[in-house]
Amino acid sequence: MSGERFLDGLPQRALEALPEPVGRYLRQGSRDGTSAGEATPAWDRLRFLPRVLRDVTDVRTVTTLLGTPVRTPFAVAPSTMQRALHPDGEVAMARAAAAAGALLVVSSNAGSTVEDVASTGVGWWLQAYVTAERRACLPLLRRAVDAGASAVVLTVDTPVVGTKYDGAGDTVWDVAEEGWVRANFPAGHGASPGDAKATDLGPQDVDWLARSTGLPIVVKGVLRADDARRCVDAGAAAVYVSNHGGRQLDYAAATADVLAGVVAEVGSSVEVYVDGGVRSARHAVSALSMGARGVFLGRLPLYALADRGEEGVRLLFEELETELVEALRLAGCRSVDAVPADLLVR
Ligand SMILES: Cc1cc2nc3c(=O)[nH]c(=O)nc-3n(C[C@H](O)[C@H](O)[C@H](O)COP(=O)(O)O)c2cc1C
Repeated sequence: MSGERFLDGLPQRALEALPEPVGRYLRQGSRDGTSAGEATPAWDRLRFLPRVLRDVTDVRTVTTLLGTPVRTPFAVAPSTMQRALHPDGEVAMARAAAAAGALLVVSSNAGSTVEDVASTGVGWWLQAYVTAERRACLPLLRRAVDAGASAVVLTVDTPVVGTKYDGAGDTVWDVAEEGWVRANFPAGHGASPGDAKATDLGPQDVDWLARSTGLPIVVKGVLRADDARRCVDAGAAAVYVSNHGGRQLDYAAATADVLAGVVAEVGSSVEVYVDGGVRSARHAVSALSMGARGVFLGRLPLYALADRGEEGVRLLFEELETELVEALRLAGCRSVDAVPADLLVR
């Protein structure tokens, strides 16, 4: 089969459709943008040693992420500002993810309420930052628990927000409209120093979050095997390898280069996920071969949402699923849960 793909030219179409400061915010990395620029090339460098003489008549893409059944290992990473991309924002994203049988992580800074996201029927987790004053993040967590979140994704790579250069033009915050972010915080949240992101996070916070919510905790933003071990020892249910799309410490390693090391350390005891620069199902097959169970997409569904709303995100997932089935067949793999480590050339 051949023909036009929705994915072809998608970032360009999305960026053309958006006000310049919004498009820039979506695309940009921190400082020189080195890590943001290196993420996809790091996946692109990998090569397969496909297996032959295998029965690939039936290929399974279904799996589970912390017990949530999903149609493929692709999931939507947490991203703020979705209502800047489309009026229906996170709700459109959630409807599309539900239609695709995909899991969605709702950003703590979402512009739609968690109740509205939950009403779409999507399987969802809440992303959270722990606040300087620990109590200050409890109302958001309680609200997410009540609305049916099935895990909390604790982002740990953001003690401060990485600097991004906006030149002389407007920043996204200059053009931001009321209601694009912070739909799930009580009125007045953010005014007190205790509402800021904690700079003193420790392993004890993983346990505290688990006890406060009764939910499994996924630690997002881990690049090192020793940190992954500390997360697991602290009670994390899963480790999420990420450099925040190159938006935090510039020059942070590409996730494609460090995923295997994290899996070697903790992959036998917890689920390991990855994001950063994933732009195709071939990238995902590489991640699965390294032992990732879930492959999260950051900018790709954001571009799809900006380009064509809910339908765009549905088209994106359809194309990725089709490509995933084909790649697995051609690689001689029958299931996303059994992509061997030696599929990749070392
Ligand atoms: C516009 C934008 C907003 C983001 N907002 C959040 C956020 O609120 N919380 C978070 O943990 N990560 C956030 N991220 C990081 C993503 O969850 C993810 O780690 C990253 O985008 C993955 O890289 P990719 O965009 O190359 O797929 C954001 C990323 C982008 C591009």
